[in-house]
Amino acid sequence: MKITIVAGARPNFIKIAPIIHEIEKQQKNKVVISYRLVHTGQHYNKNLSDTFFEELNIPAPHNNLGVKSGTQAEQTAAIMISFEKELLQHPTDLVLVVGDVNSTMACTIVAKKAHTPVAHVEAGIRSGDMKMPEEINRIVTDSITDYFFTTSPHASDHLKRIGKPSEHVLFVGNVMIDTLLNNLPRINKPVFWDELNLVKGKYFTLTLHRPSNVDELGTFSRLLKHVVNKANGLPIIFPVHPRTQKILKEAKLTFENLHFVNPQGYLSFIYLVKYAKAVLTDSGGITEEAAVLNVPCITFRDSTERPETIELGTNILVGDDISKIDNAFNVLDSGNWKRAKSIPKWDGKTAERIIENILTLYGN
Ligand code: UD1
Ligand code: UDP
Repeated sequence: MKITIVAGARPNFIKIAPIIHEIEKQQKNKVVISYRLVHTGQHYNKNLSDTFFEELNIPAPHNNLGVKSGTQAEQTAAIMISFEKELLQHPTDLVLVVGDVNSTMACTIVAKKAHTPVAHVEAGIRSGDMKMPEEINRIVTDSITDYFFTTSPHASDHLKRIGKPSEHVLFVGNVMIDTLLNNLPRINKPVFWDELNLVKGKYFTLTLHRPSNVDELGTFSRLLKHVVNKANGLPIIFPVHPRTQKILKEAKLTFENLHFVNPQGYLSFIYLVKYAKAVLTDSGGITEEAAVLNVPCITFRDSTERPETIELGTNILVGDDISKIDNAFNVLDSGNWKRAKSIPKWDGKTAERIIENILTLYGN
């Protein structure tokens, strides 16, 4: 069977790596399965794209649609137009999409209109926040997807509740954690570690890229200033996403303990997470990695589509509420942060389960 795998943005690359490696493993075992990798080009800076292909040993895409940036509609439309051509030239048995970015939704719509079945990896998660573009992507994608691979019983329950056939809702675990566990032995110090005199457990790792936190100067500056205040002089390492770079230029914020650095490669970023006193973030994927690494995680959002990172992991939600942020830092300083428990099926074997299920669904 032939699978077209779609990836467009940083977290997508991290999710497809173990799936591709599992297909390659099956090919070596003489199983008849092939794949075609389509990069939509939604992310294109080296440090958001190529670096991950190199570090995670992902083969070069068969096609890069090169869509780049735009408004929500421009980007979605550009991906749809290019992916339709790709599918016409290279028909396939299954389109596999991951996550919740514009590339995920755009390619799902195109595939279904071309009568090609779709498998969605990380299906069924919901934040309930319709102001997030990702929530719309998730809802639209899942409304027409055929096979749902989920990271949690919450996600599976949601899909079954909205009427998806239970034989197509498959709780397999988390591919992002496959990548984490596969690569932990390879993580390395970022280049600036020694220069900044970083010490394990004595610095914070910060990421912010959600439009609700970084698109408006007032919100962004207020949040950043407060966090810097609460860090008690400990260094804060802030790998800056290109969306955030724009506002940073306007904000002109400088603090002695706040270090802006480029987006990091996977191996040095995970190093920064693993040894941080806490991770301060609005990312989705990073809350999952912090949970598995048992690193305290403070999330600047009011909702999450990943409740297991709170129930079993190390994550708490503070939004941009100053009193909640203060309280979180107090708990951190008291040394009483909750400890992570193991999360079912986040065990490094998710890609194996996905490919096994696909082969079964396709009669192999
Ligand atoms: C996208 C996803 C988000 C995901 C994030 C991961 C959507 C709606 N959003 O957000 O869910 O969490 O990726 O990082 O799909 N830019 C560059 N170079 C790049 C990519 C982006 O300069 O390689 C700049 C452009 O100015 C662009 C802006 O960043 O307009 C935002 O990029 P975009 O892909 O639209 O959304 P993200 O904020 O990256
Ligand atoms: N990440 C990285 N370098 C960075 C920031 C993040 O390698 O500088 C990784 C991180 O470990 C996680 C993924 O990128 O695997 C999360 O991506 P992001 O926060 O951009 O997207 P989200 O998960 O919020 O959609």
